[in-house]
Amino acid sequence: MNALIAPSMLSADFCHLANDIEMVNRSRADWFHLDVMDGLFVPNISYGIPVVKAIRSMAEKPLDVHLMITDPGRYVGDFKQAGADILTVHYEAVTHLHRVVWQIKNEDMLAGVALNPHTPVALLDDIIGDLDLVLVMSVNPGFGGQKFIKNALKKVSELKEMLLRRNSDALIEVDGGVDGNTAVELVEAGADVLVSGNYIFKSPNPEKTIDGLKHIGAEEDEVEEEE
Ligand code: DX5
Ligand code: ZN
Repeated sequence: MNALIAPSMLSADFCHLANDIEMVNRSRADWFHLDVMDGLFVPNISYGIPVVKAIRSMAEKPLDVHLMITDPGRYVGDFKQAGADILTVHYEAVTHLHRVVWQIKNEDMLAGVALNPHTPVALLDDIIGDLDLVLVMSVNPGFGGQKFIKNALKKVSELKEMLLRRNSDALIEVDGGVDGNTAVELVEAGADVLVSGNYIFKSPNPEKTIDGLKHIGAEEDEVEEEE
């Protein structure tokens, strides 16, 4: 199966953001991945609500908003108004996760929960039935361009098993260090959505790079059909 591709706009050229939004619109990418950081939950500060709103005004695809902020429940309504379609909060940043997940769903957005590299998949056991998406972080969140942490592959497989066992159709998204090689392994392990920043935007032809990522699952389908 083809994975959905979500280019991370953190690696876009902020001086020419419109060009990069248009490129993603034209490309075979499925979602825009938007990383919001507060300098507290993660060491970095990225961009916030006005930038999400501006991207919404040009984007022709769903906005997948990844909140790396402490106590994200405070801003669910604001991100809905800014145009988010999918809102993901970190397991480690929320005390009353069930409440926040339902706040998101009640605003008619898809609800995602992100796991830092050290957070075990098993901790989702009592919330998985309420989730539309689980985001497995394959780097420590905060920065683009970091090295992929291999243990994420094991977590994707564990999660896939959990979803099958629980009869859930939540999507498995992976974020951090995704390139042409790690993407193949992730799709094999069961990832449904691949976020990719530097690998796409720092490549000579980002549209073609997106095409390549999009092709990964398709190649497997062709092999399966031949068998
Ligand atoms: C990291 C962010 C990622 C980041 C991915 O905290 O959540 O979305 O932009 O960038 P790459 O693909 O360059 O690792
Ligand atoms: Zn992200």
